[in-house]
Amino acid sequence: MSKAKIAVVGSGLMGHGIAQVFALAGHDVTVTDTVMKNLDRVQSRIATNLRDLGDDATAAARVRPCFDLGETVRDADFVVEAVFENLALKKKLFAAIERHVRPDAILASNTSVIPITSIMKGLKHRERALGTHWWNPPFLVPLVEVIETKWTSPRTVAWTVDLHRAAGKEAAHVKKDVPGFIGNRLQHALWREAISLVEHGICDAETVDAVIKASFGRRLAVLGPLENADLVGTDLTLAIHKTVLPAIDSRPGPSRYLRGLVAKGKLGFKSGEGFRKWSPQDQAALSAKVFAHLKGSRGGGNSK
Ligand SMILES: NC(=O)c1ccc[n+]([C@@H]2O[C@H](COP(=O)([O-])OP(=O)(O)OC[C@H]3O[C@@H](n4cnc5c(N)ncnc54)[C@H](O)[C@@H]3O)[C@@H](O)[C@H]2O)c1
Repeated sequence: MSKAKIAVVGSGLMGHGIAQVFALAGHDVTVTDTVMKNLDRVQSRIATNLRDLGDDATAAARVRPCFDLGETVRDADFVVEAVFENLALKKKLFAAIERHVRPDAILASNTSVIPITSIMKGLKHRERALGTHWWNPPFLVPLVEVIETKWTSPRTVAWTVDLHRAAGKEAAHVKKDVPGFIGNRLQHALWREAISLVEHGICDAETVDAVIKASFGRRLAVLGPLENADLVGTDLTLAIHKTVLPAIDSRPGPSRYLRGLVAKGKLGFKSGEGFRKWSPQDQAALSAKVFAHLKGSRGGGNSK
């Protein structure tokens, strides 16, 4: 992949990290944000991350903050949006972006769960629009899901997959624009059952997390569930499913237990209690542990 011009719209948690990855890969990156103070610190934030990771901190100089949306996207080959998770905002933004970009520019949204179809349906040229769903932190978690809609052209998908692979990401092609794409569907199927086990008094929240971390969680980074099913045998998998699946939570909406926590203001880290209690020290320790783990497993991104 030759050097490309990348535009990132939104310089928050995800936007600055996405800009960092593309800059480190040698691309020229423009970044915009409606909040000046976020934009002002984007370069120093990226330089700090790069230094912390032992990467080339001079790559931050390839990131150009730019307050004007038109100027940010005008020359771009690829525009990725990472603003707040709000459909109306994203639709309005892409309508504005489309007025400024080159006819051959590719437009992507980093939405977590909003269907790409809903975001892009108002565009004049929907064939060059798709989703690129990164994971936090973008410079440490390898996966980017590349989501096509029924309008996305094969060239748009292929170019986007190549761009991300060349930047060191593991690009997964999502062939249908379903809510949650692949990763969040799998993740939240597990979370539903995790909450259900607590809700039904089978164990407490701490035990759910301990069981996962001390068992299949240990293997997950190198053994996917379908590899695992083949490893134990599809016949055994079938037998297990006959017994276990009827007992597993299959409710179509959020559980009463989860709704109850939110109603009581038990919002997790931000209120000091969610499923468990969290002191500021506990929060800092867990965040540091996750960061150190992800940093330590860098380079292990190719899961093939
Ligand atoms: N945080 C995560 O773990 C995560 C993971 C994957 C995807 N996402 C998705 O990425 C997107 C961004 O999430 P985040 O966590 O970086 O949010 P964030 O709040 O950290 O950053 C959003 C940024 O967008 C800016 N912004 C808002 N409106 C704008 C506009 N019209 N033009 C330009 N900038 C604007 C804000 O000022 C802010 O700096 C969301 O859609 C989110 O769902 C988040």
